[in-house]
Amino acid sequence: MTASPAAGSAAEPKGLAPRRLAWQVLQAVAAGAYADGALERELGRTPLAPADRGLATELAYGAIRQRRLLDAWLDQLGKVPAERQPPKLRWLLHIGLYQLLASDRVPPSAAVSTTVELAKRGGLARLAPVANGLLRAFLRRQEAGDTLPLTPEAAADPATNLGVRQSLPPWLAAELLQWLPPERAEAFGRACNTPPSLDLRVNRLRSTPADVCAALAAVGVEAIPIDGLSAGLTLTGRSGDLSRLPGFVEGHWCVQDRAAQRIAPLLAPQPGERILDACAAPGGKSTHLAELMGDQGTVLALDRGEARLRRVSRNAERLGLQCITVQHADATTLPHEQPELLASFDRILVDAPCSGLGTLARHADARWRIDPASIDELVLLQRRLLDGLLPLLKPQGRLVYATCTVHPRENSQLIEAVVAAQPHLQITESWQLWPGDLAGGGDGFYAAVLERTD
Ligand SMILES: C[S@@+](CC[C@H](N)C(=O)[O-])C[C@H]1O[C@@H](n2cnc3c(N)ncnc32)[C@H](O)[C@@H]1O
Repeated sequence: MTASPAAGSAAEPKGLAPRRLAWQVLQAVAAGAYADGALERELGRTPLAPADRGLATELAYGAIRQRRLLDAWLDQLGKVPAERQPPKLRWLLHIGLYQLLASDRVPPSAAVSTTVELAKRGGLARLAPVANGLLRAFLRRQEAGDTLPLTPEAAADPATNLGVRQSLPPWLAAELLQWLPPERAEAFGRACNTPPSLDLRVNRLRSTPADVCAALAAVGVEAIPIDGLSAGLTLTGRSGDLSRLPGFVEGHWCVQDRAAQRIAPLLAPQPGERILDACAAPGGKSTHLAELMGDQGTVLALDRGEARLRRVSRNAERLGLQCITVQHADATTLPHEQPELLASFDRILVDAPCSGLGTLARHADARWRIDPASIDELVLLQRRLLDGLLPLLKPQGRLVYATCTVHPRENSQLIEAVVAAQPHLQITESWQLWPGDLAGGGDGFYAAVLERTD
């Protein structure tokens, strides 16, 4: 590993390196990078102690999630609105303000002094007094009990109020208030700003939850069972690089969110059956299906993303599963390309590409990427997937449609429209889990179980 110039020198004050790293991540995300990729890249080239890696991660993800709230504070405190600030200064102020607002492990004096020091050393020396003044002005407002950076008129608008406090894009805050009562919309926002849980699924063909807990405890990592999930465990503290934990290489467990673990069992897959997982990569649910079938039968794991599909093969191999066959294909055109597959599957899973509004806590920058136009496109693709895949189901067969979003157009409205257009199809179960619904964490997920009645 080589240290980048950004990693700092021995002479620099303590605590600058993780904050500089977080600042670089914010700049990279503003330039179009994905937050997790940018963070991984910066962590890869900056040697940091584990505690500093944790701090850099918390600051980068936290400040990205809270972008709208932080901008609203800058708008109130500065002479120049956030969007017109020099971008480098805007993102540095976000790191400083985020520590004052949300971090319970950074003393305010350290948040201010490190921000000013970074400005001086990071090409913003002339603006260091501006950073100092803005952060101190924020502290005075905070001490005076001021928690909402809005004018009284703006604060009176429910969507603006919710959107700024919970740092949600305006369109999403407005839609949430149409879908949910105010207190549940608030809970959604809180869940989206809480670091996600880290959940494991034990491979019951190779181990047991008790054995996995014991092996992890032996290296100082605590894992506890998740209520209602027979193979689910959650890690309670920091765990470092998961692939180095005992049992990972041996395929005793994999990482899978607790809500995602509820999807494969809805298919009730039986040993010996033929199952299609039409949107399979990276294989979280294909491998779960194979485990539930005792690795007896066939899981055809199909995906349009060739590189992502290779991850299905790697995961299946690590978990020791033989019954998964991978295929690179477009699921919307399968009946035309491979007519021999018509009416050939006992069960089909459509874990559809979606807006991911149920995973905003996990993907810090996602809320700033998604917009209503992209949802329009996704709904069309989801409809084409369902229309293309239903003919592949055997009579009496079962199809499960799932997404990790909460948008009704991608979920209940779409399923109702599909069922209305098909004479021999009925919904036997459907539910929407919102982020924050499950105790201890969990993504938002939608699932509908459809059965052919002919
Ligand atoms: C939500 S992800 C699937 C996650 C996966 N089921 C798991 O549990 O690990 C959706 C997947 O759909 C794939 N996809 C999108 N459009 C597709 C299409 N037309 N045909 C097949 N796969 C598609 C994407 O490449 C992506 O891997």
